[in-house]
Amino acid sequence: MKVLLLGSGGREHALAWKMVQSPKLEKLYVAPGNAGTAEIAENVAIAVNDFQAIADFIAENGIRMLVVGPEDPLVGGIRDFLQADGRLGGLLIVGPGKEGALLEGSKDFAKQFMQRYHIPTAGYMTVTRENLAEGMQFLATLKPPYVLKADGLAAGKGVLIIDDLGEAQSELEQMLDGKFGKASARVVIEEFLKGIEISVFAVTDGKGYKILGSAKDYKRVGEGDTGLNTGGMGAVSPVPFADEAFNRKVEERIVCPTVEGLKKEGIDYRGFIFFGLMNVGGEPFVIEYNVRMGDPETEVVMPRLKSDVLELFEAVASGHLEQVDLELDKRFCTTVMLVAGGYPGSYEKGNAITGIGRVKDAIVFHAGTKRQDSQVVTNGGRVIAVSAFGDTLCEALKQSYSQVAELDFKDKNYRRDIGQDLL
Ligand code: AMP
Ligand code: GLY
Repeated sequence: MKVLLLGSGGREHALAWKMVQSPKLEKLYVAPGNAGTAEIAENVAIAVNDFQAIADFIAENGIRMLVVGPEDPLVGGIRDFLQADGRLGGLLIVGPGKEGALLEGSKDFAKQFMQRYHIPTAGYMTVTRENLAEGMQFLATLKPPYVLKADGLAAGKGVLIIDDLGEAQSELEQMLDGKFGKASARVVIEEFLKGIEISVFAVTDGKGYKILGSAKDYKRVGEGDTGLNTGGMGAVSPVPFADEAFNRKVEERIVCPTVEGLKKEGIDYRGFIFFGLMNVGGEPFVIEYNVRMGDPETEVVMPRLKSDVLELFEAVASGHLEQVDLELDKRFCTTVMLVAGGYPGSYEKGNAITGIGRVKDAIVFHAGTKRQDSQVVTNGGRVIAVSAFGDTLCEALKQSYSQVAELDFKDKNYRRDIGQDLL
């Protein structure tokens, strides 16, 4: 079959890398893609939010399946848009419609949903200009630190964690006044959960689900979890502390009721669900839902998937997930993200990347790269992820780091302590 994948990050290179291994694939297009996807598929110069151009491309090229990488087009309603196009009747789509995507697109929707289905999550209150006084009072009843979340998508920047009550109250006002534009016209105030974060990935066809595994990512730019938040500096899968007992709680208390809840609401959700969790003394709580895979978590989750991914995606999109058996590699997979110096602040682009051909026994996933003349050059803050396997976490990390040393570009930066807290 012919498949179109939307996106241009390391996540999409990892999805593409896995899809091209499927005997079911006839041709893979990636819009817009990066230098890594260009090597294994055909990049198409269409932006992920240009729904009309995407619909035309699908119709004109006989595309059978669309896989949506990032959240933006999902929250924007790409599924609904394409399903309303009479030319695209048989199109299989991996990714929820606009309603299902609210799990990520609106924190308030997600909190109400969790409350309705008794899914463990932090206590909260949603505040707008209308009930600001109550919001201020609610804040004062909480213990610090205070968690403020813009309701809508804010490019990963919409969550503030503040120690001082006065400062939190003043930030709340600023958020309602448009600090994150329309995304913070509503703000969710949450209780702070103390624990260790872990992510669990699943797919659902709207009826059942399959779990793709757990991962931990490293969001801060600096070693020891210091410095600014990034999109992710590295990841490991599986997560050693997620033992059988913990995984069972996640499945029984969170994954299963989420899928059942979607069904009860009449939401025909077909795609990924990314459960951002906090392990609070062995008990899982949901911090957030995402309606897509994580980046760089995909760079460790996809390599561990032994089953045919297109068979899986076909089952997700057509509602036959119960017919698929998933097999995961028991080994650990780790990834280290190489980033441009200065990231997540301002950084240079267009610097030549050397050494990709020297990497052995590891997978190079391109993130912010592009081809310029005959060279691969940097084209984003997060540049390349180096993923490797090991029978132990320690061996996988050793292999990722030995291969990271082969790669170079001007002002290359990376964290040296990925996975160290779990050893
Ligand atoms: P979110 O975008 O909702 O995942 O929040 C971003 C980050 O803020 C999370 O990855 C956590 O590190 C942190 N965070 C969010 N909500 C809470 C909470 N209720 N308690 C503690 N930390 C939180
Ligand atoms: N790495 C976190 C995310 O993809 O949201």
